[in-house]
Amino acid sequence: MKKFLVAIVMAVMPLAASASGAKAPLDHIEVDPTNQASLQRGMQTFVNNCMGCHSLKYQRFERTAVDAGIPNELVEEHLIFGDQKIGEQMTIAMSPADAANWFGNPPPDLSLEARLRGPDWIYTYLRSFYKDESRPYGVNNVVFKDVGMPNVLESLEGVKVNNCTPEELHAAHGKIDPLTGKSMNSCITTVKKGQLSAEEFDKVIYDLTNFLAYVGEPYKQDSKRIGTNVLIFLFIFFFFAFALKKEYWRDVH
Ligand code: HEC
Repeated sequence: MKKFLVAIVMAVMPLAASASGAKAPLDHIEVDPTNQASLQRGMQTFVNNCMGCHSLKYQRFERTAVDAGIPNELVEEHLIFGDQKIGEQMTIAMSPADAANWFGNPPPDLSLEARLRGPDWIYTYLRSFYKDESRPYGVNNVVFKDVGMPNVLESLEGVKVNNCTPEELHAAHGKIDPLTGKSMNSCITTVKKGQLSAEEFDKVIYDLTNFLAYVGEPYKQDSKRIGTNVLIFLFIFFFFAFALKKEYWRDVH
């Protein structure tokens, strides 16, 4: 009985943990690791804008190139800076100690970020920076309060201000008007336009998130393919096993 009670408490505990603390609602996206065009754009955005600070140390350039359908020569020419080789991991030169000094917290490795936070969180986070002069880099973030990261895509996105009360933020953030596809969040407003429109920027972030979701599980497509083949094999093998069983038992009865 005691064990049973402990088991129940353990089962309910995660619920209690996720219920505590009001979190900003997240915008939902469907990631698609088979969409190679999206992975290619995501990788390009990542290498150009994020790899100055964040590594993907469990991922190799070559594996990424193959899965995203980019020829190795193009990756070597355009997506690898410095003297890294295509077979190497996607590491960076910035030392964590220096980074902690500059940013408060070192920029974490993002190989498993999509597994840790989920694609919805990343997609919302990257679109939720707003102007906040009290912060060292002049920006804050709706889903990651007092974040140490500057808004590196500000030139594309523009500058937003946040005039929301906490209640408004939690009620409105993440709601998308089903007719226009636009955010219904009216208390966060753009005060300076970027190079891209809101829809174009969302697409860039979708591709970037899709890429990071792929990096979290690069073997996912392999697992699906192998799983299907195993099931087909078992199906065919069943007939042979059945025929063999009949043969063995024929003389017994
Ligand atoms: C100038 C350096 C810098 C660049 C460039 C940069 N980041 Fe960051 N990023 C940081 C720092 C520092 C943190 C840690 C913030 C903290 O913990 O307060 C961070 C945190 C994050 C996190 C949250 C990590 C967590 O704690 O779960 C994500 C996701 C992220 N960055 C994604 C990106 C993406 C995607 C790009 C490219 C568009 C990018 N970053 C570019 C410095 C950078």
